[in-house]
Amino acid sequence: MTSVSPHVRSPKECALAAARAHDGERGALLPILHDIQAELGYVDPEVVPVLADALNLSIAEVHGVVTFYRDFRSTPPGRTTVRICRAEACQSVGAEALVEHAKAALGVGFGETTADGAVTLDEVFCLGNCALGPAVQVGDRLHGRVAPARFDALLGDAR
Ligand code: FES
Repeated sequence: MTSVSPHVRSPKECALAAARAHDGERGALLPILHDIQAELGYVDPEVVPVLADALNLSIAEVHGVVTFYRDFRSTPPGRTTVRICRAEACQSVGAEALVEHAKAALGVGFGETTADGAVTLDEVFCLGNCALGPAVQVGDRLHGRVAPARFDALLGDAR
């Protein structure tokens, strides 16, 4: 029996489908970009002219929105995304020291992916886990009171 791999839409196909889904909506660009990132994991630069055409905007306008919002990535993320909370409650219990540890341990900065493609490091401003800081999200899972040693253990599981 042969297995059939699911069809993965190209960035252009994804952009056109998202534009159709929000056809006629005011302020459709942001929800369209979120849809694209949800499907592809990032907003491929290839979609910018496609969306400009579909929404009757200039390429500069679409590009400006994509680059203004730090939520949108322009490159594919690693297999696991690690997000460290840098909001006030987590900062007060050592988040910044954890950030420095994480950057050194992974050898990347925020928004970057390790050379082996395993982990993307991102910052976030509140994960809703403020009483248990420093808070870290690894993939879909939220973790509290993450000291550097625990961070290393979580990373070991993610790789
Ligand atoms: S401040 Fe870090 S989870 Fe809210």
